[in-house]
Amino acid sequence: MDLSKASALYTVRLLTEDDIPAVYALCRKNTLYYQYCPPSVTPEIIREDMYALPPHTQRKDKYYAGYFREGRLSAVLDLICGYPDERTAFIGFFMTDVSMQNSGTGSQIISDLCAFLKEEGFLRVRLGYVSTNPQAAHFWHKNGFADTGQLYSSERYAVAAAERFL
Ligand SMILES: CC(C)(COP(=O)(O)OP(=O)(O)OC[C@H]1O[C@@H](n2cnc3c(N)ncnc32)[C@H](O)[C@@H]1OP(=O)(O)O)[C@@H](O)C(=O)NCCC(=O)NCCS
Repeated sequence: MDLSKASALYTVRLLTEDDIPAVYALCRKNTLYYQYCPPSVTPEIIREDMYALPPHTQRKDKYYAGYFREGRLSAVLDLICGYPDERTAFIGFFMTDVSMQNSGTGSQIISDLCAFLKEEGFLRVRLGYVSTNPQAAHFWHKNGFADTGQLYSSERYAVAAAERFL
């Protein structure tokens, strides 16, 4: 799958370990997110996330990608194709640069991504968000993701599952 076609406005490419400093710089400013989803970010955690895979998926299914505008990293997306089933794409992580938040950037990226994934033959997009994070909950609901009612609790927080049919 050629994720570079997922946005008309941004240059989208897979991120490598060379990009970790830029990803870290973007993430560390999103303090609200880490307040709800501890621990706080480190370059090592980003490196682990770059390679992390859900059960029964392979490296080829994972797209750890950056959205760039004028060479600057604007958003990070971790997408797993074919999880939890063949016709579903899973957003493992999505974050925009704080300096451009609340101006429609995230919604535009997700809208274009969903259109692209539909063209690629996927039937739905699924994700999980920390249920108590008001920013994440509002954003995903606003973008057409509905709670499935499933809640996955860990020691520190609970993750709500949500999905959008394409
Ligand atoms: C969630 C996120 C991706 C949205 O990106 P964005 O570029 O700001 O997206 P948009 O501008 O399209 O939409 C932001 C919406 O969130 C709302 N919002 C922002 N902060 C909020 C808060 N603290 N509580 C409730 N809603 C909030 C904005 O009002 C806006 O909604 P509106 O258009 O109805 O007013 C971005 O805030 C982010 O990266 N957050 C940290 C990471 C994260 O939570 N990712 C999602 C969970 S995996």
